[in-house]
Amino acid sequence: MKFHLVSGACGFVGRNMVKRLLATTTDKIFIVDNLSVGTHPSTWLDNFSSTFNKDLEIIGKDERLYFWKGDFRKLLHKLTDTPDYLQKEYGLQFDKFADVFHFAAIVGGRAMIEGHPMIVALDLAIDAEFFYWVCEHKPARVMYPSSSAAYPISLQSTTHAIALSESDIDFKKNLGTPDMTYGWSKLTGEFLAQIAAKHYGVSVACIRPFSGYGEDQDLTYPVPAIAARAAKREDPFEVWGSGKQGRDFVHIDDVIDCIMLAMDNISDGSAINIGSGKLTSFLELIEVFSKIAGYTPTIKPLLDKPVGVHSRYSNMDYVNNTFGWKPKISIEEGMRRVYEKQKSNLK
Ligand SMILES: NC(=O)c1ccc[n+]([C@@H]2O[C@H](COP(=O)([O-])OP(=O)(O)OC[C@H]3O[C@@H](n4cnc5c(N)ncnc54)[C@H](O)[C@@H]3O)[C@@H](O)[C@H]2O)c1
Repeated sequence: MKFHLVSGACGFVGRNMVKRLLATTTDKIFIVDNLSVGTHPSTWLDNFSSTFNKDLEIIGKDERLYFWKGDFRKLLHKLTDTPDYLQKEYGLQFDKFADVFHFAAIVGGRAMIEGHPMIVALDLAIDAEFFYWVCEHKPARVMYPSSSAAYPISLQSTTHAIALSESDIDFKKNLGTPDMTYGWSKLTGEFLAQIAAKHYGVSVACIRPFSGYGEDQDLTYPVPAIAARAAKREDPFEVWGSGKQGRDFVHIDDVIDCIMLAMDNISDGSAINIGSGKLTSFLELIEVFSKIAGYTPTIKPLLDKPVGVHSRYSNMDYVNNTFGWKPKISIEEGMRRVYEKQKSNLK
């Protein structure tokens, strides 16, 4: 019986990963989250039921999901001090974790990244503790989510924006300056992943998702927030900055597909992009949603709001050519799903 570990499992990417693992495997899954942002599994799992073994919540009739609520760093300390802690404390019967997905991080939207950079810098601590434990424990495979924020911001400006390729980050010669403390922590995490692979023989895959979105994302992120306002037919329609700044939006189902692909094909700590390869401005996003809602609002720019880099989008050639992978869900289809969800929330 395989036992997987998912940290940050109650957040946006984590819970989608857990649902995928439950649906596509018969394996057991140990999940960790301090619920600082994420919500309890009872809010995102169907037919929820649970029992407790001390402070460990065992979820579902088939008892495949184990929820440890708390700071991942605390658990990592326990596992580092006592490698068989889970066996001794809870009687769990397994030797090593199989797949380890590490989503615990302080993320937030633009307001968090620019407004609280030193809180976000704590990701450096979480990731350092994580990779230290990984190199001791040696699980079968590890997934580290980096981010498009790791790319040099000089390649994403108003006058000089390019589709970002994996080779635009080269630890041997070309790093540039990533996006705030968030980008630095992701770049450092990738470096630690490569050290774990090369010096400790751990199988690690890194991913650089661009702007993941989905029906169950919270309203601090632009896609659901704009969808919710379109569903209420906001007019004038507020946009942060001029709205001409753009991102590369990719649906969470495609993100999870590509994560699985990365796990199966990458072991040396290197990273692949996960994006659509298309740049969509926030003005275009508002247009997509207002079209679905059936009206044409006046745009009201909010020039005092943080907007980040001007244009951030992926070059997906490497992933397409190497693995034949492309996202399946178009912007129109994905955004319609988000809109329908926000519309139903109004009722
Ligand atoms: N969502 C995206 O499009 C995207 C893009 C690029 C990278 N990523 C990366 O993917 C990972 C997950 O992102 P997300 O969008 O799901 O974010 P999220 O904020 O929704 O999820 C992070 C989860 O980690 C938990 N957490 C935070 N600190 C913790 C700690 N110390 N101990 C235990 N749990 C803790 C939070 O409660 C939350 O549930 C992050 O590393 C993020 O940088 C996401």
